[in-house]
Amino acid sequence: MFKRLGDWLEVRLGLRTFYEKQVAYVLPESISFWSFFGGITIGCILIQILTGIYMVTYYIPTPDLAHQSISEMCNNTEYGALIRNIHRWCATFGMVFLTIHALHIMARRAYRPPRELNWWMGLVLAFLYLLLVITGIIVVWDWRSYWELIIWVDWVDAIPGIGPYIKGPILQGFTLGRNYVTHIWILPILLLGFFFIHIVLFRRLGMSDRV
Ligand code: HEM
Repeated sequence: MFKRLGDWLEVRLGLRTFYEKQVAYVLPESISFWSFFGGITIGCILIQILTGIYMVTYYIPTPDLAHQSISEMCNNTEYGALIRNIHRWCATFGMVFLTIHALHIMARRAYRPPRELNWWMGLVLAFLYLLLVITGIIVVWDWRSYWELIIWVDWVDAIPGIGPYIKGPILQGFTLGRNYVTHIWILPILLLGFFFIHIVLFRRLGMSDRV
């Protein structure tokens, strides 16, 4: 029965061919220990998506109930505290791995032509990741969240020329609900979209040489 289902899907989606092509992918000769950190970073992001899906079933995005709903999830459900901590630690480790990945790319000088577009994609990914961390800290809505919001908006204000014009709209438009939608929908969708382009470009150009 599974074979028939597999054949049916193969004709329509070509999933088996796709899978076999990925399994047959020969690792490039220039691969090194440090080449794994890009993959480990996306691994952390996937764990965050799974743990995040669990947490949205408990979280209430209103200023009076947000913090309370997270406390209740941690204290009154069997795996709540564990899942929240996995989510937070993956965010921290993801940032460390992303930094190692970017340093490795710099050491290999993989920012040079023809990979400069992928380098820019990487910078966009790093920016989106940073925004995910900031909005994630604000979601909790405790004192740390409040100061996170104030400090980051001050940083935005410090951008020469345009800073003050961005700061106003951010503060005027800020609501906990909007921050939440940005954290759970807008940023993850953008991040996965840019990651897809990142990998397509990587596969197209192949791995850069060792230095
Ligand atoms: C969410 C963040 C990121 C993820 C998940 C990610 C993931 C990956 C993966 C899986 C690869 C292929 C294998 C490898 O060399 O690791 C790769 C390659 C690459 N990444 Fe990233 N990356 C991220 C951020 C960045 C950043 C911040 C930069 C630099 C500014 C960057 C620049 C590159 C470049 C230039 C390549 C091609 C490497 C080569 O040709 O050898 N990436 N990335």
